Amino acid sequence: MNAAFWQDRRVFITGHTGFKGSWLSLMLSRLGAKITGFALPPPTTPALFDLARAGQDMHSIIADLRDADAIDRAVREARPEIILHLAAQPLVRQSYDDPEETYAVNVMGLVNLLEAARRSDSTRAIVVITSDKCYENREWPWGYRENEALGGHDPYSSSKACAEIVAAAWRSSFFAPEARTHVATARAGNVIGGGDWGKDRLIPDILNAIATRQPPRLRNPEAVRPWQHVLEPLSGYLLLAEKLYAEGAAWAEAWNFGPADADAQSVRQLVETLAQHWPDAFPWEPETAAQPHEAGALRLDSSKARARLGWRPRWNLRAALARVAHWHQAWQAGEDMRAVTLAQIAAFEQEPSL
Ligand SMILES: NC(=O)c1ccc[n+]([C@@H]2O[C@H](COP(=O)([O-])OP(=O)(O)OC[C@H]3O[C@@H](n4cnc5c(N)ncnc54)[C@H](O)[C@@H]3O)[C@@H](O)[C@H]2O)c1
Repeated sequence: MNAAFWQDRRVFITGHTGFKGSWLSLMLSRLGAKITGFALPPPTTPALFDLARAGQDMHSIIADLRDADAIDRAVREARPEIILHLAAQPLVRQSYDDPEETYAVNVMGLVNLLEAARRSDSTRAIVVITSDKCYENREWPWGYRENEALGGHDPYSSSKACAEIVAAAWRSSFFAPEARTHVATARAGNVIGGGDWGKDRLIPDILNAIATRQPPRLRNPEAVRPWQHVLEPLSGYLLLAEKLYAEGAAWAEAWNFGPADADAQSVRQLVETLAQHWPDAFPWEPETAAQPHEAGALRLDSSKARARLGWRPRWNLRAALARVAHWHQAWQAGEDMRAVTLAQIAAFEQEPSL
C-alpha cells in the first residue's frame, strides 16, 4: 500500500457500513486518508462496522443512494478526489425476491452517483465495484476475461452487468480521455473474511451451523467459485484508484481481481478446509429442498491486473480460511474486534505476494 499517496487523500466510499466497506474503511484510515462514507445502516446484526468501530475515523453519512439529492449533497460537501463505489443490493437470493429494488439500487443508484461526480469539481478517479457474476456464464472450465460478454441469469448478476454498461456509457459520454475525471470498474471473486454475516452466504451459514452444533447444509457442494480473502480485491481497488488518479485514461477500463487458479475450488472443498479449524464440527450434508438457479462454475482470469497493475494475491485460500477462522474464534472469545481486524490488515500488508 502506498501510504504516501493515501495520506490526507479525500476519499468517498459508498457502502462503508457493509462487510467489504468496513474492511476498506479501516484499511484507508490506517493509510491516513480523509474518508467520507455514504450508505444505509449496517445491513446485518451483528456487523463488522459496529464491532470494529469502522466509522470512528471518518465522516459517516447514513442515506439512500436512490435519493439523487442526498448523494449529490454528500459529494458536493465531501469534495472527494477519489470515489470507491461499493454500495449495492449484493445478494442473489434477495434479487429473486425483489428484482425492482436490486435494479433501483445497483443501476439507478450508480447513475445518481456518477451524475453527482460529474457535477463535482474535485473528483479525479472513480472505481465502480461490480462482480465476477457480471459475465454471461457459459459454465466454462476457464476464467472469464474482461473483454468477455456481459450477462446474468438472475437479477443481481444482470444488475451488475448493467452497472458495467452504465459506467462505460459515462466514461465515453462524460468522462472522455481528456476530461479530469476517470472511471474504472472492478470485478472481484467471491470474497471471504471475518465479519461477514450476509444472508444466505456460504461462510456465515457454515459458521452459524458450527456455532449451533448442526451439520452445515450445502446447496451446491460441487459449484466452483473464485474464493479470495476480502483484503485481496480491496488492495486491487486501491492500486487501481491510485493509477487512475495519477495517470488517468490508460486505466479507465474494466479489471478482474480474482484469486490464483488453484483457489477456484468447489464449495465442498472450501467447507472441508474451513471445518478443520473446528475439530468437533459436524460433517456437511446436502440441502435437499429445491433451490433457485445458481451457476455451476465461475472462475476469473486476472492476467491483466497481474501484467499491467502488478497486482497479485497474497494469501492463498488455505491462508485466507485460517484468517476467517481466527477472526471468528476471536469474536466468540469476546476479543476487541477492531484490534483483531487491524492486526489482520497489518499482517496482510507485510505479506509478500504469491
Ligand atoms: N461479498 C462478495 O462476495 C462480493 C463479491 C463480488 C462483488 N461484491 C460487491 O461488493 C460490494 C460490497 O458487498 P458486501 O459484501 O460488502 O455487501 P454488504 O451487504 O455487506 O454491504 C452493502 C453496502 O451497501 C449499502 N447499501 C445497500 N443499499 C443501499 C442504498 N440503497 N443506499 C445506500 N447504501 C446502500 C449497505 O448499507 C452496505 O453498506 C457490492 O457492490 C457487491 O455487489 C461482493
